[in-house]
Formats: sequence, structure tokens, C-alpha cells
Amino acid sequence: MDTAEIALIEKDGLARIEAAASLDELRAAEADVLGKRSALAQLNTRLGSLAPEERKAVGQQVNEARSRVQAAADRHRAALAVEERRRRLEAERLDLTEVLPGLPTRGHLSLITQTRDELEDVFVGMGFSVAEGPEVETDWYNFEALNIPKAHPARSGHDSLYLEWGEAESTLLRTHTSPVQIRVMQTQPPPIYSIMPGKVYRKDTPDARHTPSFSQLEGLVIDRGITFGDLAGTIETFTQAYFGPGRKARLRPAYFPFTEPSAEFEVTCTICAGSGCRTCSGTGWIELGGCGMVHPNVFAAVGLEAEEWTGFAFGFGIDRLAQMRHGVADMRVLLENDIRFISQF
Ligand code: PHE
Repeated sequence: MDTAEIALIEKDGLARIEAAASLDELRAAEADVLGKRSALAQLNTRLGSLAPEERKAVGQQVNEARSRVQAAADRHRAALAVEERRRRLEAERLDLTEVLPGLPTRGHLSLITQTRDELEDVFVGMGFSVAEGPEVETDWYNFEALNIPKAHPARSGHDSLYLEWGEAESTLLRTHTSPVQIRVMQTQPPPIYSIMPGKVYRKDTPDARHTPSFSQLEGLVIDRGITFGDLAGTIETFTQAYFGPGRKARLRPAYFPFTEPSAEFEVTCTICAGSGCRTCSGTGWIELGGCGMVHPNVFAAVGLEAEEWTGFAFGFGIDRLAQMRHGVADMRVLLENDIRFISQF
């Protein structure tokens, strides 16, 4: 055993340590190079066979070699730790500011809500205020107070969804927004210029023009000397404001128990531009809603003097309006949440 052999073992050891590419590899290299069965450890056992004068000097050389290898291992460990931490941070990095090109990053209001907001703007611009009422109604608000008594045939047309609450058929999901007329007249004195948007429910089988839940917008005007001309003018003004000047609207005589006289208002079908299609059942016209002069029995139900006050009411489907303006052939897609449809608006 001589200086050259010790130097060779040290050089070997240093090379193994430096070659370790990870902390795991370094741990293995250290065991091989500095552990109990390493070449350096064997040198120590062989010291015993040397002459005592030699033993001290060679022993010191072996110790120094071991210290340098150990120091190299410590340095390398520190460097590897820094490198591994940097790599882990890089891999786990979450950049919240990153913008992925071509992907939408925000949602938007549904077409129905956008339409409702726009209609509210139109009516608020005409001097109306906005009111709301509950979606679960009593029979009295939904029917009785609107001059639709129990045996009235108009009830069957509403296909009501009743709740199991209280007496049988006493509570229901409102079938129209007209009960909110009653609530508004009960809570504020005339003059009233109010719109009442909201959801309504009917036991309808879904088709191109019907869904069991849809939105309506009710209108109510109560003042002195209100005429049918005011009603026609209001309908005309709002359809022009919503659809633009190119659209034709018409009133046709109709019947509603809570208005007299009553009318239906229709617009040219936009799907076929009036020539007749599946959406308008071949008529070229789409019914938007009903309207008329407030019936004296309704005034009586809320305790207003029919001699003193006159008024008109109207109600139409918000979904139907959106359908016509945007040329949506089938209403059912409004509720289907298909992203290819939704993202167009
Ligand atoms: N409530 C009626 C319906 O849902 C519409 C309507 C409202 C008619 C107001 C006249 C006056 O069909």
C-alpha cells in the first residue's frame, strides 16, 4: 500500500461522486465509496499490517483522502438539492395569468336572460317600472281574482301543475304572470305603469313552440282615461323597438276572462319570413301573447273603482320573442344547454 494506490482510490471515489445525477444516485455512490465495504475502508483494515512507523503517516493520508471525498459528496449533494428543487417548481408551476389562445375564458348570460334584460330596458325607457311575484301561487291569484272561477273552461287550457300543499288544487306553479297584476294592484295605488317578467309552468308536451317552463312578460297600465288605442300603441312601440322597423305586428280579436275586449298579438314568422313553416304551423304568423282592457271583475277583486279607473294588460312569452328575433326554429334548444347553440349569443 502506497501513496499512489491511495491517490488512485481517492480519484476513483471523487469520479463516482461527481457522476451521480440525482440525490438517490449520490446516496448509492456514497455507500460504495465511503461505506464499510468501500476501497477506502479496506485501506484502513490493511493499516494493521504495516510497520508502526509507516502506519501513522499512511493512516493520515487515508484519512485526508476520505475527508476530501466526503467534502466532495457534501458539495455535490447541496448542488443536486438546489437543482432538484428548481426542477420540481418548474413542473408544478401554475400560471394563473396564462391565456390559452382560441378558448373562451368567460361565460355569459343565457339568451332568455339577455332578452328579458333588453325588454326591461325598452319598457323602462317608455316609463314602466319592473315588479316581480312568486312562482308558486294560490288558486285565487292565478285564477279566481283574474275572473277565472273554478268551473271555467279557460282553466283546462292552462294545464296546471298543482302542488301537494293544503287543500287539493289550492296551490300551483303559476301558469302565467297575470297573478302579478293582482299583487301589484293590491300593493300600489294607481296610476300604475308596470311590467312583470318571470317564469311560468304548464303541463305541456315539448315541441317546436312549447316547453313546460318558459318566461313571460306581463304588462299593466292603470290610469284615468286609458283606451284600447293606448294598448295598441304600446304593443306597436315595443315590437318595433325589439324587432326593428321591418317587422309587421297585428292584433286579432281573442278571448281572455280577465280582459274585455281582448286580443292576441302576432308578428311575421321570421323562420319563413311569412310564407309558412313548421314553426308557425304554416300560418306565416307567430302568436306572441294576449292583451286587452282590464275586466271590471278584476278591478272588483282588488277593490278598485271600475268607474274611476281604466287600464290595459298584456302578456307574452319572452322565449318566443327571442326565438323569433334570432331565428331559432325549435324552442327546445333554449333549454338543452348545448354549448354549440349557447355560444352563438
Ligand atoms: N296571461 C295570458 C296568457 O298567459 C296572457 C294575457 C296577459 C292576456 C294579459 C291578456 C292580458 O296566455
